[in-house]
Amino acid sequence: MGNNKVKSPHVLIFPLPLQGPVNCMLKLAELLAINGLHVTFLNTDYIQNCLLKHTHVQSRFENYPGFRFETIPDGLHQHHPRTADKFVDITNGIEEVMRPLFIEMLTNGNLSSKSTKPVSFIISDGFYSFAADLAKDAGIPLVYFPTISPCAQWAFFCLPRLIDLAEVPFKEEDYDRKVSGVPGAENFLRQRDLPSYFRNTDLNHPIIQCILKEIQQIPRSQGLILNSSELIDGPMISQISTLCPNIYNIGPLHSLHKSILLSTQKASSHINSSNSLWEDDKSCMTWLDAQPQKSVIYISIGSLAVMTVDQLKELWHGIVNSGKRFLWALRPGSIAGEDDKYAIPPELSEATKERGCIVSWVFQEEVLAHPAIGLFLTHSGWNSTLESLVEGVPMICWPYFVDQQVNSRLVQEVWRVGIDLKDSCDRVTFEKAVREIMEDKKDEFESSASKIAKLAHQSVADQGGSARYNFNRLVEDIREMTQ
Ligand code: UDX
Repeated sequence: MGNNKVKSPHVLIFPLPLQGPVNCMLKLAELLAINGLHVTFLNTDYIQNCLLKHTHVQSRFENYPGFRFETIPDGLHQHHPRTADKFVDITNGIEEVMRPLFIEMLTNGNLSSKSTKPVSFIISDGFYSFAADLAKDAGIPLVYFPTISPCAQWAFFCLPRLIDLAEVPFKEEDYDRKVSGVPGAENFLRQRDLPSYFRNTDLNHPIIQCILKEIQQIPRSQGLILNSSELIDGPMISQISTLCPNIYNIGPLHSLHKSILLSTQKASSHINSSNSLWEDDKSCMTWLDAQPQKSVIYISIGSLAVMTVDQLKELWHGIVNSGKRFLWALRPGSIAGEDDKYAIPPELSEATKERGCIVSWVFQEEVLAHPAIGLFLTHSGWNSTLESLVEGVPMICWPYFVDQQVNSRLVQEVWRVGIDLKDSCDRVTFEKAVREIMEDKKDEFESSASKIAKLAHQSVADQGGSARYNFNRLVEDIREMTQ
């Protein structure tokens, strides 16, 4: 015990316990560690167990003497599903179990000023509104990092205005009405394109209440990290800067991470930088190697979304009827009410064996970078969207929740790199969308996708890239604020 003043900043990174946020916050953590900062990454026990099952994650982070993991329980039974349909259970666990433990850790526990390694800077997911008071009371600078898209984050900020304008909650008959309460997005956002929870008719819904708290607390922090760049999301970022003037746009973060790793001694191409919670299937890469260029549809609904058996069948029929090859990462637990593996419907069996490759989980960044991939059928999670933009792969968007409804609209209407199939699920529509992107309007989609990919690469370039600049500024500010 004692009053140990730290010289080198000690940054605490506290992500939401979900694959997407953990993946990108770990990349940020690694970049900070490369820059010589002490970093503690606070995971839930569940996430930690999934991550460290993969020895490459452990050995990668052992390279950094100042890096360590800490864990906290998430309040759920080990076998409790942590899927989107149980999202309220996850948020209850955060509120009832993680929040008090986190506060204790920082006020009296092993991250507090009474410990041997007191935390001197916090980077927290935007969802943890309680971090603002805690950081203020402890005198620790705090930067929020909401890992969703800037446009969805801006829609969150606009929630009180949307409620005043009676644009939230909205009814099904208004789905196609343009929204006026999200400045800067009036031209493209319809009510159905707002974040999924805005569809809820009950403003007392716990997630709506969390969002209302979050948007009050975020502007109290010393800054905001966004996983995007001005070149991709300029108009939305400048809207957010009216509330939070100190923004660090460090995106696309996975691409910045890759480019910094390549330019350091960590460059050796054999480094596996996957932060997957599930085992990456490597056999699919050999399968991809044998497919012609841009011929394969890659299908994944991310780490949380679930679908019904009927939806699965519609999607499967649509893909098979398109006649294209496909690689499907069919995550265990992603089919509602089914066990880990779902049997191939007999009528689809032959075509699937002939043209398909179905696995549980892949290293998605690597898959999307493979020349055989011509299309990504995605749930439009923000990380997946960015990973596809960076590789110039057009998308069919089939959003499930949170920011995905917003992201899919951006893909179709703003960047024009895909087709948004939100609120529909039938085989004919899936097939038509595949044909439009891979046949009828192939050149058009490929050309807009490669334009956005160029902007993404420009953002992370070591000479003049805004993500590089903002990341360096973040490191300098951390050092300065912790002196
Ligand atoms: C969640 C929300 O769903 C998303 O909308 C929000 O933007 C972030 O939090 P998730 O469902 O996990 O995230 O989606 P996404 O953000 O796309 O992240 C998934 C991550 O898992 C991506 O980085 C992707 O590369 C990775 N992934 C996915 C794999 O590595 N392999 C797979 O088979 C599938």
